[in-house]
Amino acid sequence: MPLSELPPPMGTTPAAPPGAEPPLLRVLPPGPMSRSWMGRLERVECPMVFEPPGDEPDADAPIVYAAALGSNVIDVDGNRFVDFAAGFGAMLLGHGAQRTARALEMQGRRTWTALGDVFPADAKVAMLERVASIYPRPGARVLLCQSGSDAVTAAIKTAALATGRPGVLAFQGAYHGLGYGPLSACGYRPSFRAPFAPQLNPHVRFAPYPADSAALDASLDAVRRELASGDIGAVIVEPILGRGGCVVPPPSFLPALASLARDAGALLIADEIWTGLGRSGAMLACSRVGVVPDVLCLGKGLGGGLPISACVAPDAIMQAWRTTPGVIHTSTFQGNPLACATGVAVIDTIRVGKLDEKADQSGKAFLELLHNALDGVSCVTRISGAGLMIGIGLSSSRVAAEARRLFLRQGYILLTGGSDGSVLTLTPPLTIPRDLLEGFADCAARVLYKLSDE
Ligand SMILES: Cc1ncc(COP(=O)(O)O)c(C=O)c1O
Repeated sequence: MPLSELPPPMGTTPAAPPGAEPPLLRVLPPGPMSRSWMGRLERVECPMVFEPPGDEPDADAPIVYAAALGSNVIDVDGNRFVDFAAGFGAMLLGHGAQRTARALEMQGRRTWTALGDVFPADAKVAMLERVASIYPRPGARVLLCQSGSDAVTAAIKTAALATGRPGVLAFQGAYHGLGYGPLSACGYRPSFRAPFAPQLNPHVRFAPYPADSAALDASLDAVRRELASGDIGAVIVEPILGRGGCVVPPPSFLPALASLARDAGALLIADEIWTGLGRSGAMLACSRVGVVPDVLCLGKGLGGGLPISACVAPDAIMQAWRTTPGVIHTSTFQGNPLACATGVAVIDTIRVGKLDEKADQSGKAFLELLHNALDGVSCVTRISGAGLMIGIGLSSSRVAAEARRLFLRQGYILLTGGSDGSVLTLTPPLTIPRDLLEGFADCAARVLYKLSDE
């Protein structure tokens, strides 16, 4: 037997494979190299990007990424972190996933860009077929876009064309991106909308998102009231609030919403940009409660780290685009071959590896670890989520910002979310090994106990 295959000697812990290693800090983050790179960034980037927003006054100084593999990120100071943010949830397979990297390399030798809607690349056709097959019913059609915000724009336009109605019903606390279409339907943080309010679609209305069954009736009543106006063509919903703090609504919410929308002649748009592709423990979060949306938005993880997104709907709905002659919604990089090639690899890897089912199992195990580790920790107000999108609610945004800073100093990258910024949102790669989840839960107990004392 070759030496490399021998079990480790008794009493020793085998080394974790690259990409699955625990934190290793050489300097306290952010180290001097990160600070130096940030100094350069601050001289050139729009100040809005790096100035901490007013409601996160204690946001920590950033680290600067140098490399990443699997569940690990290495910063420019040589610190190794475990990544519980995973590119805002986009790195479903982890960083540098082999199959995606190979697809990118092979496509890179062929063509990097084609002619969008005029002359497509073969990779775009393969991607269209893969994405269409994710929709729960056969015969779906796909409009490829570049960002989540683009896909939501396409979905809102699709609904307007298909119903002839300008109105959109959205939910408080939900996030759909910041282009003008999605921004008009953004129920997350009023500060995103306020400076641009006069330029936004005036036909958007909001209903409360039900965080639990006690809030369900009030939410559905508000939906009924708004739909009664008769001008709503689109009801847009996140099946689980992502940026809003990993809020899982009662299981009857989406089915009831779908039926109310249908009765009122409006289309149900499921924004699965955060929840989709296995993140929630199922290929689509809608499928967890038996709902088939009229229009589906996918993004984030779809390109394995390259920017691509999709608006998907049955043929009968997509035919509405034909009512106006010519191509009326496209862009230079539409169906970009590099992103399409990586997208095909991502979808195939999720399917072959059953990563959605694995995310469901490891998410349940992670929730249990967190409940056990954080039992009785006074600053923790809730722990909730589905699959590998988990929110730890804390007593205030100040506590959450401080927790994020302390986690970084322990070698864990994570984000804060929730409408008031008081939730730690955890979206690690679906491939994260269990011992890294255990390590995080241990660390969470230490960090959050400490914060409870203060
Ligand atoms: C549910 C949802 N929709 C849309 C978006 C916007 O995506 P993007 O940032 O790629 O424009 C996001 C981003 O976080 C999201 O979570």
